[in-house]
Amino acid sequence: MFTLAVLTGIAGVAIGGFVWSGMYNIGADDMHLRPTSMMLRMMRERSIARHAGAIKVPDLSDGALISQGAGNYSSMCTGCHLAPGMQDTELSKGLYPAPPNFSKLEAVNPAHAFWVTKHGIKASGMPAWGRSMDDQYIWGMVAFLQQLPKLDKTAYDAIVASSEGHSHGGGETMSPVGEGMADDHGDMPMKDKPSDESKPHGHPPGTTPHQDKAAADSSPATVEHRRADGTVESHPAPTATKANDGHDHQH
Ligand code: HEC
Repeated sequence: MFTLAVLTGIAGVAIGGFVWSGMYNIGADDMHLRPTSMMLRMMRERSIARHAGAIKVPDLSDGALISQGAGNYSSMCTGCHLAPGMQDTELSKGLYPAPPNFSKLEAVNPAHAFWVTKHGIKASGMPAWGRSMDDQYIWGMVAFLQQLPKLDKTAYDAIVASSEGHSHGGGETMSPVGEGMADDHGDMPMKDKPSDESKPHGHPPGTTPHQDKAAADSSPATVEHRRADGTVESHPAPTATKANDGHDHQH
């Protein structure tokens, strides 16, 4: 009994010392040792199986549910989990553990996929979507995940186009940028659009106000430089520099 306590104490001090030393490389680009990987994978599988054990899977063959899931999947999940025809992204390349590419896998177990999507996975990039989405929308994505491995790019694009894009009942941000289907502003009724352009009026976000257009139209087609000796050189104006997308790096 006494020896056990001493051994436990020594192990505790050794583990504490190792943690405190900072020797452990916590970087996501440093792979786990094989036994560590195996242990973490087993812990993840066992935990998911146990926690998802009592989940009742609804009918996942409903077309409307699948299509709603497609829109949500394409706007929320592809940055990490990709889609047919999509190359690796910065997120999918950089995360460790790596997010599985669902279009290349067998369909995931629905109860497990539901649990993971709702609760996320600690110390991995997988978020707990249940914080912002009700169960029915999560089931939509699970229903879509059952179909995804069977879809090629054309079929995938078609089902996403037939969906309502990013829609899960109000929690989503309404940014028109990069949200697949949600960027056409087609929802502004004509009767609300002011027709008198001389009066102050608003524009739906993302459309170009008229002032900018006028400024662009009036920009000179040629530019002139007066040299020190009095001669003048003129050449075509350089084409407008591309708007900075704020995302500048090689690769
Ligand atoms: C920021 C990146 C990221 C996003 C966005 C993301 N995931 Fe994940 N997801 C991960 C990572 C990383 C894993 C693997 C975690 C692990 O292996 O421990 C994962 C795992 C999963 C799994 C478990 C797969 C399996 O084989 O057990 C499911 C299901 C899943 N994600 C669904 C989704 C859904 C649905 C969405 C969109 C609502 C989503 N994920 C968005 C990073 C992400």
